[in-house]
Amino acid sequence: MKLMRLFAAAVALTAMSFAASAEYLQTKMNFNERLSGTAETLVVLVPGDTEELVVQGWSRDTTQHVNRAMQVSEFTGAAKQELVVIAPAGLSEQRVILMGVGVPSELTRVVAEEMGAALANHVNGTKAETIHIDSRLVADAKANAGVVAAMAHGIDLRNYRFDRFKSEPAERPAQTFEWLVASDSDAANLYADLRGIAEGVFLARELTNLPGSTGYPAAFAEMARAELEPLGIEVTILGPEQVRELGMGSLYGVSQGSQHKAHLLVAHWRGSDEQPIALVGKGNTFDTGGYNLKTASASILRMQTDKAGAAAVVGTVKALAIQNAPLNVVAVAPLSHNLISAEAQLPGDVVTAGDGSTIEVGNTDAEGRLILADGIWYAREHFNPRVIADIATLTGAKVGALGTAYSAIFSEHDSIINTLRDAGENTNELVWQLPLGPYPGIVNSRIADRINTGSPGAQAGAIFLQHFAGDTPWVHIDMAGNAFIQSPQGIHPEGATGYGVRLLTEWVKLYSAE
Ligand code: BES
Ligand code: MN
Ligand code: ZN
Repeated sequence: MKLMRLFAAAVALTAMSFAASAEYLQTKMNFNERLSGTAETLVVLVPGDTEELVVQGWSRDTTQHVNRAMQVSEFTGAAKQELVVIAPAGLSEQRVILMGVGVPSELTRVVAEEMGAALANHVNGTKAETIHIDSRLVADAKANAGVVAAMAHGIDLRNYRFDRFKSEPAERPAQTFEWLVASDSDAANLYADLRGIAEGVFLARELTNLPGSTGYPAAFAEMARAELEPLGIEVTILGPEQVRELGMGSLYGVSQGSQHKAHLLVAHWRGSDEQPIALVGKGNTFDTGGYNLKTASASILRMQTDKAGAAAVVGTVKALAIQNAPLNVVAVAPLSHNLISAEAQLPGDVVTAGDGSTIEVGNTDAEGRLILADGIWYAREHFNPRVIADIATLTGAKVGALGTAYSAIFSEHDSIINTLRDAGENTNELVWQLPLGPYPGIVNSRIADRINTGSPGAQAGAIFLQHFAGDTPWVHIDMAGNAFIQSPQGIHPEGATGYGVRLLTEWVKLYSAE
């Protein structure tokens, strides 16, 4: 009996691991210029310095009750301030939540998203099924739509759940949010754009969350294909033989010890005929370290998230396609499985990369740069991009230097650095520039053209990769440490963050507009 159940579960699991779960959310967002029906919770957006709150339609009793609560708790409507009034006099709703928006035209997208996430968190702790949000006091039409759409987006981002492996998953948030807004079409249009980003983030989180033996290279590629092709994205998957025939020995070698061999995924969103922007993401679907084994249990755990860079570039083209963005962006994801066996790569081996240069494998655990070398080369050789950005969970050294509040960026091009910095601030996926030099001889090898190790560690990775971009303007983004969180935080539920999707979606727009 138990065996049968186990067997059924295994069958279901295999099927599931390939299924594109298109529905990541169960919540609903509606934008209206008037509200009907009832709700358990009423949210009122309150501008800063509100001494007396007057809401159209409230009785004297309600107004008095809420204003007294505001005085007692010193609620004035400052941005991010919150006040919950239980059982408000004269209203049928069980709760009124006042949320401060400060000066609405100055409220950033990031803060509004965080307010939405805080609201989602609150609502998920109650039994409310319908939530009315009255935004009429945000009188400025442009600010009204912007604040509302970003808050709704924050709710969405917070409400993603990775529950495909739970036989009895906790109920997902499934509330209906009815927004009372200045213009229903303005709010709905802005929200639709952000929903595209959310869908990209969900896909990136899903791919990143997949365990190492489920989200192996071919499975990752097929899952991406299933979600991207229906959106008009051109997807090409190169299998191990093609990787080898095209000369990408650096990518091939990392997985040669695994039953799951190297793949290269290409996802091309051709929303314009301009020269493409290439995004290259590290897709190491599990990092044991190889023969330079990650011996500390703490360091090997969570190395399924070593594919987060690939997930980020896949999620970004998904977002751009849903937005129907007038941009030409190609995502390239070298996919590997860094495992040990009798066939595995050895420390000290020499591999030949796609560009014909040779690499000494000084450390099998520095596999990210090995697969990216060929990913970057492939993007350059096959797409002649105007710019290449690579993104990778590349080095522990980056985590040591910057922690997780920033990713590290390396480039010799100020226009890339500046637009990335702006994109980081607009999305709260912050970046900090580290230098590419002077570190003479940092990746020189005794026996090959270069070696995949060097010190300082984050810089050695970047300088190693720089060679493969050739003369194409290029930036390296080291997002080690940013892929995963243990407990929910702001717009993120626990688990994979989908880091990079919001940053890159914003960046390709800013860079194209340069
Ligand atoms: N995937 C790791 C980097 C990493 C570490 C990501 C911690 C997320 C959290 C990468 O492949 C790696 O193992 N890097 C080594 C390189 C070293 C052997 C030159 C490192 O940073 O220790
Ligand atoms: Mn490694
Ligand atoms: Zn790695």
